[in-house]
Amino acid sequence: MQNSVSGFSKFTKAEKIDWLISNYFQSNTNAKANLERYWNSDLALQKLHDEFTENTISNFYLPFGIAPNFLINDKIKVIPMTIEESSVVAAASNAAKFWMQRGGFKAKVISTTKIGQVHFMFNGKTSELEALFKKVKPQLLKDTKSITKNMEARGGGIVNIELINKTSKLNDYYQLHVSFETIDAMGANFINSCLEQIASSLEKHSVNIHIVMSILSNYVPDCLVRAEVSCKVENLVNNEEYSGQEFAEKFIQAVQIAEIEPFRAVTHNKGIMNGIDSVVLATGNDFRAVEAGVHAYAARSGSYSSLTHASIENGFFKFWIEIPLALGTVGGLTGLHPLVKTAMELLGNPSAKELMEIVAVAGLAQNFAAIKSLTTTGIQQGHMKMHLLNILNQFEATEKEKSYLIDYFKTNTVTHSAVVKAIEILRA
Ligand code: MEV
Repeated sequence: MQNSVSGFSKFTKAEKIDWLISNYFQSNTNAKANLERYWNSDLALQKLHDEFTENTISNFYLPFGIAPNFLINDKIKVIPMTIEESSVVAAASNAAKFWMQRGGFKAKVISTTKIGQVHFMFNGKTSELEALFKKVKPQLLKDTKSITKNMEARGGGIVNIELINKTSKLNDYYQLHVSFETIDAMGANFINSCLEQIASSLEKHSVNIHIVMSILSNYVPDCLVRAEVSCKVENLVNNEEYSGQEFAEKFIQAVQIAEIEPFRAVTHNKGIMNGIDSVVLATGNDFRAVEAGVHAYAARSGSYSSLTHASIENGFFKFWIEIPLALGTVGGLTGLHPLVKTAMELLGNPSAKELMEIVAVAGLAQNFAAIKSLTTTGIQQGHMKMHLLNILNQFEATEKEKSYLIDYFKTNTVTHSAVVKAIEILRA
């Protein structure tokens, strides 16, 4: 096959780039210079990043921003956010400031159980398998002891193993559904190692058991955190345009629409994930795992729905989120990536539970800011203001041009065409 390669992972970084450039780029490309421009001059730091994954040829920067003034459970936090979208950090900061003056965010971890499964086929009587499982369950647990020892010393380990009969959905299909407590670790490696050990022990007990696979589940509906804000309805706004009651009612309607309308719910939740993913990423956690688990949770009723809810009760506006989050503050990237270490330090080196609370708050804050804009000024006003710099950079505006145009758009509506026109006039 044209342009295929073998033994690529063994090439040096320079050889990889040379191969790439000669096979996939035109002769006049600046791709090589671009890739090399992002190399770090600190060779040890570059090596660390090279070794995070395979075939690294460069680094891909994302901004590392901070949102201050988050009052969470009566403590003020600065939240680190890794995200490229222009208005996200500003929106989080605005929501933080808004709620700082109204009692702040309350957050609480509800549960911390994680799940893994051994999927297997058994061709025989269910009652025989059940009897076998009952007999060998203590041995299965015993066989994992060398893996679980350290985790148990920290208060975690395997919580339970259940045999689940899935033959009504797929012939001969059963599971060992294993629940875990992994304390401050996200626990993926720990869980998968335990599962593989359990599977290999299990299959020794019957020739009729055929293991298909052993893997953790990123669906963690029993690893839940709740974050909430509330204040008197009349304290919600302090302007003449609309009353607190009007604001709250429209806000609640917007949330209710996301509760019953999947097209809106997906965008509503996407905004929540702007906050969640950016903190998950900044703290070196697995945002794909979080995304997969959170969206599955949003669809748990059978219809994709809002992750946040709002109400007025006894004159109080209440707005809350409840989401599953499997996060770690030890292991993985958390101890390796220098900026992740700084992010953790900034957060006061939180436990996994505290990080769950912070991340849930970031999601709730983001959603509050989005719904507040959407139901009052509209999203574009703030969004385009934040996007202005991106457009100016696209047009390679000089610092002088930027300063003039930023000033100009303080009193003029930002749209792409308005910015282009203003640049043209300025340059003419
Ligand atoms: C944009 O990244 C996120 C929003 O669309 C979220 C929402 O509509 O709620 C503003």
